Amino acid sequence: MSDSYPMPKDWRCPLDPPAGFKRLRQEAPVSRIRVWDGSTPWLISGYAQALEALADPRLSMDFRLPGFPHISPASATRRDRLLPFPFRSDEEYRAQRAMILQEFSPRRMEALRPLIQRTVDETLDAMLAGPRPADLMVAFALPVASLVICELLGVPREDYERLHVISRTIGSRTEGREAVERALDEMDGYFQRMVDANKREPGDTLMGRVVAEQVLPGKLSEQDAVSMFQFLFFTGHGPSAYMFGMGAVALLLNPDQIGEFLAAKDPTQAVQELLRYVTVSQNARQRAATEDLTIGGHLIRAGEGVLVQLDSANRDETVFSDPDRLDVNRAPHRNLSLGHGIHLCMGRALALIELEVVFGTLFRRVPTLRLAVPVEDIPFKQDENLLGAHEVPVSW
Ligand code: HEM
Repeated sequence: MSDSYPMPKDWRCPLDPPAGFKRLRQEAPVSRIRVWDGSTPWLISGYAQALEALADPRLSMDFRLPGFPHISPASATRRDRLLPFPFRSDEEYRAQRAMILQEFSPRRMEALRPLIQRTVDETLDAMLAGPRPADLMVAFALPVASLVICELLGVPREDYERLHVISRTIGSRTEGREAVERALDEMDGYFQRMVDANKREPGDTLMGRVVAEQVLPGKLSEQDAVSMFQFLFFTGHGPSAYMFGMGAVALLLNPDQIGEFLAAKDPTQAVQELLRYVTVSQNARQRAATEDLTIGGHLIRAGEGVLVQLDSANRDETVFSDPDRLDVNRAPHRNLSLGHGIHLCMGRALALIELEVVFGTLFRRVPTLRLAVPVEDIPFKQDENLLGAHEVPVSW
């Protein structure tokens, strides 16, 4: 086996997954790959196999299982701490998930549409009133994603920038153990203060309700609430913000698709195509086998690690015709950008509304929006689990 993870990527085609995945998909969609600590988990690069793996309850996301594949030092550092609920044992995961699932129901998320629209409009007003070129990430994508999740959770708006900086260290592919520990400590301290404040006076927010209904009656420990809230902030702002930024880059690089997007009869379908094409979760979904199982004809033994590569599955040529083309009118399809199976993104209803409002508003209100530098000069982030850029300079 010669391949190692992460696969090298040609950053001249920033929105395309590493070319090596195409080769693997065609030759060996279930294969072994070497990761930073020398271990060799399975790598699943084909769509059908990814679907099978994500739906299989014998592949667990419990970080502490023997053989769990840690794809970076940051991932391994988290293993030794109190883990957020998706990475716990099945029993703990299901119990904590049930406490908040309703908070993210499509009906409740739809009720947030006016807040999302207002946040997008106000943020855009501020960007348009500022200097040109502007950085679409800092002036638009990050504030919109962060302010919406802050409102939902009950996190004070003015704290989002600091929390984002800490989140980047936690989500880094390259930061060492010490920096990650410090970032996790800071995040824990912050959300402990949020729990304390909600114990004194529970707010009418997700954090307030969880504290009042779960923590105070003793159904959820304070530490578990802290880890739940910091995870919800972490996962509720980063992927959305990066998707706003990278989705805008994808549309600006394919200008014929902007009009098609705005005219789409089914905006959700157009958003789904952007999600497929961009796939911001460029790090593999990590799982460990709790029993022997077979995927794509390969026997995976209990205790072996499995990596499921979503961006590769989303470009599988046996499922998507002309997969490297962005086509917002593509027939309805089921891409894997928001996951699949029991760990399917809990914030998916929110993410879909945000993306529809963000791109609809951005390109309707600013029809002259353009990249202010050639795409080769955009500083893409090469060291993070999410596909993003340090800066996306735009003008109009
Ligand atoms: C475009 C934006 C988003 C993308 C691309 C995205 C992607 C994903 C993916 C791929 C997973 C599955 C992880 C796995 O199977 O290993 C996931 C899970 C999750 N996402 Fe999202 N997400 C987005 C937005 C959000 C938002 C806004 C929230 C709100 C809090 C959120 C909360 C979660 C949670 C809580 C999980 C864990 C679910 C579980 O394990 O049961 N996500 N997301």
